[in-house]
Amino acid sequence: MKVAIIGCGVIGAGWAARFLLNGFDVCVFDPSPEAPRRMQHVLANAQASLPALYDRVLPLPGKLSYANTIVDAVTGADWVQESAPERLELKRDLYASIEPHLKAGAVFASSTSGFRPSELQKLCSIPGRLIVAHPFNPVYLLPLVEIVGSDTTPAATKTRAAEILTSVGMHPLVLDREIDGFIGNRLQEAVWRETLWMVKDGIATTAQIDEAILYSFGLRWAQMGQFDSFRLGGGEAGIRHFLAQFGPSLAEPLTHLMDVPELDEALIERIASQSDAQANGRSIRQMEQARDASLVALIRALKAERVGAGGTVRAHEAGLAFRQDDELLLLTARRVIPPTWTDANGHMNEAHYLEVASNATDALTESCGVTAEYIAAGRSHFTAESHIRYLAELHQGDEITVRTQVLFSSGKKTHIFHRFLAPDGRLAATVEVMILHVDLATRAVCPPLPHVAAALERLAAAHAVLPRPEGAGNAIRDLRPKEVA
Ligand SMILES: NC(=O)c1ccc[n+]([C@@H]2O[C@H](COP(=O)([O-])OP(=O)(O)OC[C@H]3O[C@@H](n4cnc5c(N)ncnc54)[C@H](O)[C@@H]3O)[C@@H](O)[C@H]2O)c1
Repeated sequence: MKVAIIGCGVIGAGWAARFLLNGFDVCVFDPSPEAPRRMQHVLANAQASLPALYDRVLPLPGKLSYANTIVDAVTGADWVQESAPERLELKRDLYASIEPHLKAGAVFASSTSGFRPSELQKLCSIPGRLIVAHPFNPVYLLPLVEIVGSDTTPAATKTRAAEILTSVGMHPLVLDREIDGFIGNRLQEAVWRETLWMVKDGIATTAQIDEAILYSFGLRWAQMGQFDSFRLGGGEAGIRHFLAQFGPSLAEPLTHLMDVPELDEALIERIASQSDAQANGRSIRQMEQARDASLVALIRALKAERVGAGGTVRAHEAGLAFRQDDELLLLTARRVIPPTWTDANGHMNEAHYLEVASNATDALTESCGVTAEYIAAGRSHFTAESHIRYLAELHQGDEITVRTQVLFSSGKKTHIFHRFLAPDGRLAATVEVMILHVDLATRAVCPPLPHVAAALERLAAAHAVLPRPEGAGNAIRDLRPKEVA
């Protein structure tokens, strides 16, 4: 599948990274000579974070290319995403150049934050074809995308767009009808307006406002939205009690409601200087990386609970095929090391070697038939022993590839040897594991079902032609002097 990205700023580059890392070929058109640099910057951020959400290997990345003309970018594309500046005249010119070259059936979408689809469709020769696909920054990590059409947009167009976005790990929210600002920006703007007033009135600084969000409802909102949160706020009596208790206070003049403070020089200067002080010397790049690391940690935590964005990743991951190349040793994991995996020594902490090895073992057994259904039916593997050897340092941002050799498999016992390869191909670690097949009801070892046993034994037989790996079977040596030992 080919994707054309028209406009490669914060949002266009984020889209490009999301599609590329999910295996789509992406062709970018942006007249700015800065576009390739910006693209590489965003792609580097995405490579360092998106794969860290997953416990399975993402598809092989697609091919990134840059077009000199809109025609070259759009021709043959299955998805065209316009992410140019928010100016109607500019979008009009772009659509006139894009439309004649759109492939039949291609999805044609705008990232606009504010124009209604019907406004944009007036700029097009075939109304109803263009939809709004409104994402959130960073597009490569945040799953929400609002899909909005006008009254003339066929439902099937929105459905097809939603299907494709689901396949790249997003959470499409299809709006029933168009509204100004869609849902997300209406909410964000209400909060934004209020924060501007508080700074203008000298009630609070930018840092105090951000603190109020970070330590309270910011945390709550990632796992429970406005309505469910307030439902719980009503205690056992629920939402009705909450509305009765706090409803009347809505009429109190707490807020400036729809008034917007004038963004005059004085207010801009106040916000900018307070925001600079709050950044405390951190560059945009540093702040982006810190944001991404925290988002990965949050989404992974939500993934364990199957909640919100974590549920989206989990569902996407379940559909990722166990990918193989033609190498004899299985590719069982590919992970980019996120900042949260490194320790005070500046390299990957040992706990995460075991985490990656555990995912690699799961990928191996799943490929042999130990699927979620197989486990739900009452059988699985338990790890009986593991031995890790740390051979070379791995650092934040390094992509580790794990290749797995089955040393032995017979009945309930399987002996596995994972090799962790650094980006330059060096052997960075080995993790040797013995797994036992168990009956989950009795918690006792038992033989796997025949198709699983056969698949594991087939792999062991195929790998038997390889030399026994150096280090296999090692234990920690007795380090005491000979005379003591
Ligand atoms: N920034 C956000 O948080 C955000 C979120 C959601 C949606 N959006 C929407 O996404 C769109 C892009 O916003 P952004 O924040 O990425 O802006 P941006 O300024 O970061 O990027 C715009 C890009 O468009 C390029 N461009 C200018 N003229 C062009 C042309 N004729 N053809 C192709 N490219 C051209 C620019 O060189 C630039 O790289 C807007 O419609 C905006 O409303 C932005």
